[in-house]
Amino acid sequence: MLTNINRLIEKLAYTLRMEIVFYIHILAATAWIGGALLLFALGIFLRDKQAQANVYEHLGPLYGYFETFWLVTLLTTGTVMYMHHGFGDVFKYAYDSDLAQTMIHKVYMVGILTFLTIIHMIIAFKTHTKTRTKWQQIISRGSSLLIFLLNLIILWYATQLRTML
Ligand code: HEM
Repeated sequence: MLTNINRLIEKLAYTLRMEIVFYIHILAATAWIGGALLLFALGIFLRDKQAQANVYEHLGPLYGYFETFWLVTLLTTGTVMYMHHGFGDVFKYAYDSDLAQTMIHKVYMVGILTFLTIIHMIIAFKTHTKTRTKWQQIISRGSSLLIFLLNLIILWYATQLRTML
């Protein structure tokens, strides 16, 4: 009887911990995507070049650390939930299932997004307050646009995953 109660308490505590991990994952997703959308909008709608330079000069480094923190949080909490849901076995025994395919697409997209973010940040920190070469400008803008689109696609896969789990 006592062992059963102990098991129940342990199970409840585990479920609660996973709820907290999921909560942090969602918080990180809102901060990461929200931050990216805001800066993307600034780049498009803030037409005054001097004002734009001022904003990037002061906000740039802070934004870089802010986004890095939330992306690392997303990757960590995502991995914990991946293990919790036993995705290793899903891939092993049901590779063709919608669940496995949706997850694999999400993971690939997140991999590309992380790679582009690293490239984007290296250029941003290297050229902070300096004039960029034509190629640095193209790669920086291109990666920024791709990160923006990938975020929307990842969010779509994320909502599909939740429905399937
Ligand atoms: C840019 C990175 C990421 C973003 C923006 C993101 C976003 C989200 C969002 C918004 C949800 C909730 C969907 C809903 O409730 O409808 C979610 C769920 C989930 N994510 Fe992520 N995610 C990211 C990275 C990852 C990674 C790297 C993994 C695993 C390796 C992962 C694994 C999961 C899992 C397993 C769920 C479902 C959890 C559940 O329903 O219990 N995520 N993600």
